[in-house]
Amino acid sequence: MIQNPKRYTITAALPYTNGPIHIGHLAGVYVPSDIYSRYLRLQGRDVLFVCGSDEHGVAISMKAKKEGITPQEVIDKYDGIIRKSFSDFGISFDNYSRTSAKIHHDTASEFFRTLYDKGDFIEEVTEQLYDAKADQFLADRFVVGTCPKCGNEEAYGDQCEKCGSTLNATDLINPKSTITGETPILKSTKHWFLPLDRYSDFLNEWILVGHKNDWKPNVYGQVKSWIDGGLEPRAVTRDLDWGIDVPVEGAEGKKLYVWFDAPIGYISSTKEWALREGKEWEPYWKDQDTKLVHFIGKDNIVFHCVIFPAMLKAEGSYILPDNVPANEFLNLEGNKLSTSKNWAVWLHEYLEEFPNQQDVLRYALTSNAPETKDNDFTWKDFQARNNNELVAIYGNFINRVVVLTNKYYNGIVPQPNELSEVDEATLTELKAYPAVISSSLERYRFREALGEMMNVARLGNKYLADEEPWKMVKTDPDRVQTQMYVALQIAAALSSLCEPFLPFTATKLSRILKIESPLNWKTITDNSDLLPAGHQIGEAELLFSKIEDEEIQKQIDKLEATKTANIAENKKAEPQKDLIQFEDFAKMDIRVGTILEAEKMPKANKLLILKVDTGIDVRTIVSGIAESFKPEDIVGKRVTVLVNLAPRNLRGVESQGMILMTTNAEGKLVFVNPDVDGVGNGETIN
Ligand code: 2FM
Ligand code: ZN
Repeated sequence: MIQNPKRYTITAALPYTNGPIHIGHLAGVYVPSDIYSRYLRLQGRDVLFVCGSDEHGVAISMKAKKEGITPQEVIDKYDGIIRKSFSDFGISFDNYSRTSAKIHHDTASEFFRTLYDKGDFIEEVTEQLYDAKADQFLADRFVVGTCPKCGNEEAYGDQCEKCGSTLNATDLINPKSTITGETPILKSTKHWFLPLDRYSDFLNEWILVGHKNDWKPNVYGQVKSWIDGGLEPRAVTRDLDWGIDVPVEGAEGKKLYVWFDAPIGYISSTKEWALREGKEWEPYWKDQDTKLVHFIGKDNIVFHCVIFPAMLKAEGSYILPDNVPANEFLNLEGNKLSTSKNWAVWLHEYLEEFPNQQDVLRYALTSNAPETKDNDFTWKDFQARNNNELVAIYGNFINRVVVLTNKYYNGIVPQPNELSEVDEATLTELKAYPAVISSSLERYRFREALGEMMNVARLGNKYLADEEPWKMVKTDPDRVQTQMYVALQIAAALSSLCEPFLPFTATKLSRILKIESPLNWKTITDNSDLLPAGHQIGEAELLFSKIEDEEIQKQIDKLEATKTANIAENKKAEPQKDLIQFEDFAKMDIRVGTILEAEKMPKANKLLILKVDTGIDVRTIVSGIAESFKPEDIVGKRVTVLVNLAPRNLRGVESQGMILMTTNAEGKLVFVNPDVDGVGNGETIN
C-alpha cells in the first residue's frame, strides 16, 4: 500500500452503452468512487477521477440487432442517457470519455502494437465456435452454455457471472448461439493470445504476498483461487465486425477483445482530460508516487486484478493498482437486478418520481452498500432511511439550529459566553470526527463512514435535546447564546463532512449557512470557531422531506407490473412444438386420480415420492415438485395423471406415470386441476 501518495488516479468501471444506468451500478461502483474522490479533494489532494462509455464488444452488437439499429446508433443513444444520469446524480468525474473516441482507438492500438512488437503474444490458429447459420464466429455474449466450473447453465463465452470464472467459449458445455439458438460447430481461425501463465509468479508476488492485508477479502479470495487454479493463455482478439481493428498484418477483419481495449479506456480518458486541461497525463499512470484505485463490481475482478495488470506489466512503463475495492451485487426486492428483464430502478426514472432527491438515493444505497456480501434494495428500506434518518435526524437538527438562530438573533451567530463541560466535550467530540470518517474512507468502508457522518448530526440533535435552549431563552439568554453557538459549529462541520456522501445537501446547507466553499477537514479538527460570532446565516429551508406510503406503494406496484409483464412475455416466448397426429394424442391415457401419500425422496431437493389412486390401481409416481409443495399439503389432492407413460427409474424408485402440472400467473408451479367434484378416480380425460 502506497503511503502519502503525491496524486491519485481513481477509475470507475466503464459502463457498457447497451442500456441506461440503474441503482446497482450506482451502489456498486459510481457512488463509492465518487465519495472517495470528493473526500480526497476536500483534503486538498491531487485527484483525477476518470470514466467513460464502454462501446465495443458483443453487448453492443446484440443490442443493435435486437433494436434493429446500428451499433453506432446504440452507443450514441445510451452514451447520452448515461452521461446525463451521472451528471444528475453528482458523480464528479474529471473526465468522462468514450471508447469510440479516436484518442482511445489510437491508445489501444498502440498498446497492442507495443506488446506485439515485444513478442508478448502467442499467435495461433485454433478451432473456435462458429454459427454456420449466422455465418459468424461465436465468442463472449454471442454464446451461452453450461459453466464447467459451477454448472450455471447461462454462462457466457468469456465469463460465468455466477462463479466469476473467466472462460474460453470452447470450455462451455452444451454451447448455443445467442444469435440463432443453433449448436455451434468448430472452425479454424487465427488469434493473438496473452500468455497469462507467464505472469503467474508476478501476480502471486504482487497480490497474494503484497496485498494480503489491505485488499478486501472477497477480491483477494477470488484472485487467489484463479492463480492457484493455474492461469492459461487468453485470446485478446476476436472475429467480429464491431470494435477496434487489430493493428497488425494478417489480422484483417479482426477486432480487439473488448476486455483488452476497455481498461485502456481509463488511460485514454486521462489523455483526453490532460489535453483539454493543458496537463501532463503520464504522471497519473507512470509515476510510482501515484495511487491508482479501480472501483468495480465483483464480475469485473478478474479483468482488473489479473488480465489488465498482466497487460500493464507486459508493457512495462505503467504503475499497478494500489487497490481494487470491488463490491458485491445489489439485488432489488429479493431478485437479481436485470437490464433485459427490466428489473431495475433506472436513474432517469427515479428522478422523474423523486425530483431533486438524488441524495436520498445516494444515502440509501450507501447505507446498504453491498460491500462484503450481496445486499437487497427495498422501497420500504429507502423510505425508512429517508424518514427516520435524513428527515428525523439530519434535517431536524439543521432546521432547529437555523430556525432558532433566525428567531433569537436575526440569523447572526451569537457571541459565546463561558463554555460548560458539556460544551467542551461536545466540541472535542466534533473535532475528532474528520479523523474517524477518514479512517473508514481510507479503508474503503463507505457504509461505516456514512454512519459516522450521521453520528455528527446525532451529536447535534442530542446536544439541543439535552440543553433545551428554547426553555431558557427568556430566563438565561447568556447561556442560550453559548448553546446556539455550539450547535452552529456542529452544523457548519456537517456541511463539509457530508459533502462526499450528500453533495447536493452540502451545497444547500452551505448556502443556508452562507459558507462560501466547503471547509477543509483539517480546519474542523484544528479549529472550533468554524462559524464566528457575527457571521450572518440565511433563512431556513427544508433539506429533506417525508416520503409518504403512497409514493412507495406506487414504486412497489410498478415492480409488480414488471413481474407480471415478464411472466406474460415468457409465456408468449415458449415456441410451439412440432405437430403430432390425432393418433399420437389418442395414445395418451390421462385419468383423474387422488394423492394418497407423499414423502420426500431422500437426498434429492426436488423429488417427492407419491402414492396415487388412479382408479385402476394405487401406484408410485415420482414427481419433481418438492421445491413447490410440502408432502403434508398435497395428500388428498385431486390430480391429472398420465397413466400409460413407460415406467422410469428415478434414484432407485420406479415411477409409474406422470402428474400434470402448469405454472400460474406468478410463475408458481400448480396442479392441472381436474375440477371434477363427484367424478371418481380413473375417469379418463380427453
Ligand atoms: O462490466 C461492464 O459493464 C464493463 N463494461 C466494465 C468495463 S470496466 C473497464 F475495464 F473498462
Ligand atoms: Zn460458473
